[in-house]
Amino acid sequence: MNLKRYFPIYKKYPKLAYLDSSATALKPQVVVEAMTDYLSHYSANIHRGLYQMSEQASSAYDETRKLIAEFLGTKDEGEIVFTRGTTEGINLIARTWGETYIKPGDEIVTTQMEHHVNIVPWQVLANKTGAKLRFAKINDHYLISNDQWEQLINKKTKLVAITHESNVLGTINPIAEITAKIKAINPTCVVVVDGAQIVAHQPVNVVELGCDFYVFSGHKMYASTGVGVLWGKRELLEAMPTFMQGGAMIREVGWQETVYAPLPDKFEAGTMPIAEVISLGAAIRFMKSIGWKTIQEQEGKISALVQKRLGEIDGLKIFGPSDLANRGGVFSFAMEGVHAHDIAQILDETGVCVRAGHHCAMPLHGLLKVDSSTRVSVGMYSDEKDIEGLIVGLQQVKKIFYHG
Ligand code: ALA
Repeated sequence: MNLKRYFPIYKKYPKLAYLDSSATALKPQVVVEAMTDYLSHYSANIHRGLYQMSEQASSAYDETRKLIAEFLGTKDEGEIVFTRGTTEGINLIARTWGETYIKPGDEIVTTQMEHHVNIVPWQVLANKTGAKLRFAKINDHYLISNDQWEQLINKKTKLVAITHESNVLGTINPIAEITAKIKAINPTCVVVVDGAQIVAHQPVNVVELGCDFYVFSGHKMYASTGVGVLWGKRELLEAMPTFMQGGAMIREVGWQETVYAPLPDKFEAGTMPIAEVISLGAAIRFMKSIGWKTIQEQEGKISALVQKRLGEIDGLKIFGPSDLANRGGVFSFAMEGVHAHDIAQILDETGVCVRAGHHCAMPLHGLLKVDSSTRVSVGMYSDEKDIEGLIVGLQQVKKIFYHG
């Protein structure tokens, strides 16, 4: 199925091989139009105006929340908080839940495969509170073995923060199984999941996952930048202090004291990114119209092809699980004797876009014993021609570096 036709960028660059969807996904025409329509025709503020245009904006904004609740498998729209992205979501949890409930001597656990956003806020929290930060190790297959949870979780563990899919290794962590294991050892331990890399690629049901918080960004799932989602269990969100204070998150303000608005408004201070939230609603409707079956079949086929074709190149090492059942379409690799930046630059000259560097995962690259890697990541529009372009480009790299 040709899904490229929904993405206007390919009209301008028909030969583009965009293989950097983990950094940000391309935007379909319907998302561009939804944003343009709001900005051109009803760009009023929300939940403030009594005029028709403001009501139209409010209802488009609120409609996205409904769609997200359904997308995540929760009936409670109050549990869906809009943020500016995954980074804000994790920082919000660390600063509010974390600073309230983490005490000296408590333990926070994360993993060796995390993006910096799932390490640094926990370092800051541990330093502020006197808690200890511990890491679940990855094994030789780039997975976290079950025994890690048995070794790390104890009565002092207050919070576990884990990625659903690694942005470097492509590893998909079995969150439902991991959460059950953690809660069997310590039922009060709070589990935070970074879903940034997976929400565009497979259905997520937060109730079935059994976690306490789930965060992601809109721009990796075909919406605009500048918008994200924090889902949390109602009782946790209600027991948390506010994050940012200002307009829209209040019920009543006096000179000395304020009563805050109920969920989710309590966490949505100031004018929110309205156009971006509307774009997220359009992206969800778009994904629904394509359907998970088509998305997963296309990405599964292309991921298998990437793995096979990269595996045929001598001197190329993929950092990530070899079994496609344990991974998504993110493939980071190193080529003997060639720096990742050189690979990305040569690929760019042939119209192939990949990411090169540490992908905001420096500690993980240290473990992999490289300072950088080249990363190929797929989206619903990726096809065989893109992968052909990638392989031709890599042959060019070999020609330049190996044969002078
Ligand atoms: N976190 C995004 C990535 O991995 C930007 O590329």
